Amino acid sequence: MINDFRSLYGSAEGVRVFRAPGRVNIIGEHTDYNLGFVLPMALDMATYIAAAPSADGKLRIHSEDRKETREFDAAAIRDLRPEHHWTDYPIGVAHELTLAGFAVEPANLLIRSTVPDGSGLSSSAALEVSSALAMLRGRPMDPLDLARLCQRAERNFVGMPCGIMDQYISVFGREHAAVEIDCRSLGHRYVSLPDGVAFVAVNTMVKHALAGSAYRNRVAECAAAVAGIKTMFPAVESLRDVSPEQFQAAERLLDPVVARRARHIVTEDVRVNRFVGASESGGVEVMGKLMVESHRSLQHDYEVSCEELDFLVDAALTIEGVLGSRMTGGGFGGCTVSMMRPAAAHLFRQQIAQAYQGRFGIAPRIYDCNPSAGAGEQPLP
Ligand code: GLA
Repeated sequence: MINDFRSLYGSAEGVRVFRAPGRVNIIGEHTDYNLGFVLPMALDMATYIAAAPSADGKLRIHSEDRKETREFDAAAIRDLRPEHHWTDYPIGVAHELTLAGFAVEPANLLIRSTVPDGSGLSSSAALEVSSALAMLRGRPMDPLDLARLCQRAERNFVGMPCGIMDQYISVFGREHAAVEIDCRSLGHRYVSLPDGVAFVAVNTMVKHALAGSAYRNRVAECAAAVAGIKTMFPAVESLRDVSPEQFQAAERLLDPVVARRARHIVTEDVRVNRFVGASESGGVEVMGKLMVESHRSLQHDYEVSCEELDFLVDAALTIEGVLGSRMTGGGFGGCTVSMMRPAAAHLFRQQIAQAYQGRFGIAPRIYDCNPSAGAGEQPLP
């Protein structure tokens, strides 16, 4: 990467490399912006940024994937506005850094990513977090502040009203563990996954155009559910506060669609906590069952799945040794995550690829999900 940096910018003096991982969410979908629970793991697929100071006042950003370099006046970051371009992610971060009192110094950046774009494995958060680290260049920032700053970049600059999960796990990921995040307290605990299971993500290779607008609708529908439930239970501030019993009592007050959205969130929070309990006691059958229940709830109540994801889940469940499967991430395309006996993984890859290709004429990409460390500076080779 250093050689590529040198050929691109003419010199690699002062270069440092920063890494931020993508993630797969094992269970707890769309619960983060409802202040509930999620259980992602950071992946070994990550975004790397090589960065060195520049002498001409410019912030230059090159993406290897996009084969494009853009340059900005480092002194005028605050005046920049979103352009609906990939640079909105790093520039949004630069913007938030200046608002938080961290001057963005002139620099040359080279971005390389192994997180597949648009796959629901959180390439955006990996880009945001690695950009923040590259622009901070070792200036200390509290890890939670870092995750929140990157979330603000995505909400305020990119314009996507996301929750905290993706940025949080990119910062707090750990090898050999999933991370249960309480999206209200913003605390977390590491959850060790039982020996004898493997997680494999399968990429539908599609991203339906609906994804962004549907996400916004779901955020609004959840707010409508809170407003309705609050008339019966005034202490409720978010769907996180609603117990299954309260939901049953208040359901009839809600518009039927809004009620289904709320039912997904209320039941999903319960599933995350049961999954963590099962994981800690080695209850792999229960874990698998909860993943499938989560998928059905996202499919029928939250309605963020799609034909390709449903097909992959149904096909996975017919394969020997598969314990559970579900869509992961925002939905409307992207990936499923399946849990299986490690010995089944080889055949799973073959059979799922064959089935998907046969049905949709597309070869899916398949990734082993190995829990990895969170973001940080990379030692130079
Ligand atoms: C996207 C968002 C996250 C989360 C998931 C759904 O990845 O960025 O904040 O809401 O969708 O669980």
